[in-house]
Amino acid sequence: MIGKHGTPGSSPYLRLAAVVVQVSLAVVASANAQVVRIADNPAKTAITDDDRAKARAIFTERCASCHGAGGHGDGPAAANLKPKPIDFHNQNWQKSVTDETMTKAIIFGGRSVGKSGQMAPNPDLEDEPAIVAALVEKIRQWRK
Ligand code: HEC
Repeated sequence: MIGKHGTPGSSPYLRLAAVVVQVSLAVVASANAQVVRIADNPAKTAITDDDRAKARAIFTERCASCHGAGGHGDGPAAANLKPKPIDFHNQNWQKSVTDETMTKAIIFGGRSVGKSGQMAPNPDLEDEPAIVAALVEKIRQWRK
C-alpha cells in the first residue's frame, strides 16, 4: 500500500528519472531550436518592400550566376554544374517543394535538403528570416 512517504512521485528514483527526462528534452529542444526557428512557417513571416529589395539584390549577386536572372537555371555558372539547378518555372518542382524546404536549402545549402552540395549555404541569412522569405516569395512568383 502506498502511504504518505511512499507515493510514486516522491520516490527519489522517480524524481531523478523525471530530471533526466527534462534534461534530455532540453537538449533535444536546443538542438532543434535553430531548425524550428527558420522552418517555423516562413509563410507567416512579414515581408516589407525593403526586404523584397534586399532579396532582389541578393538574388542578382549570389543566385543568378547559377539559377539565371529569370530563374530558369541557366546562369553562366550553371553550365559546369552536375546536377544543373532546377528550372524554377518547372511546375512539378514548384508543387513538390515546400516553403520550409526552400528556406532550409537557402540557409543551410542544398545538401541539407538532400540536393546538390554545389548549392552553397548562406549562413548570414539565418538571422534574416524576412529576406529569406522574400527570396522564397520571389521564387514562388515563377509558379504560373
Ligand atoms: C553554385 C551555384 C548555385 C548558387 C550560387 C545558388 N544555387 Fe541554389 N541550387 C543550385 C543547385 C545545383 C541546386 C540543386 C538542383 C537539384 O539538385 O535539383 C540548387 C537548389 C536550390 C533550391 C531548391 C532546393 C530544393 O529542395 O529543390 C533553391 C530554393 C535554391 N537553390 C535557391 C537559391 C538561392 C535563393 C540562391 C542565392 C542566395 C542560390 N540558390 C544560389 C545551385 C546554386
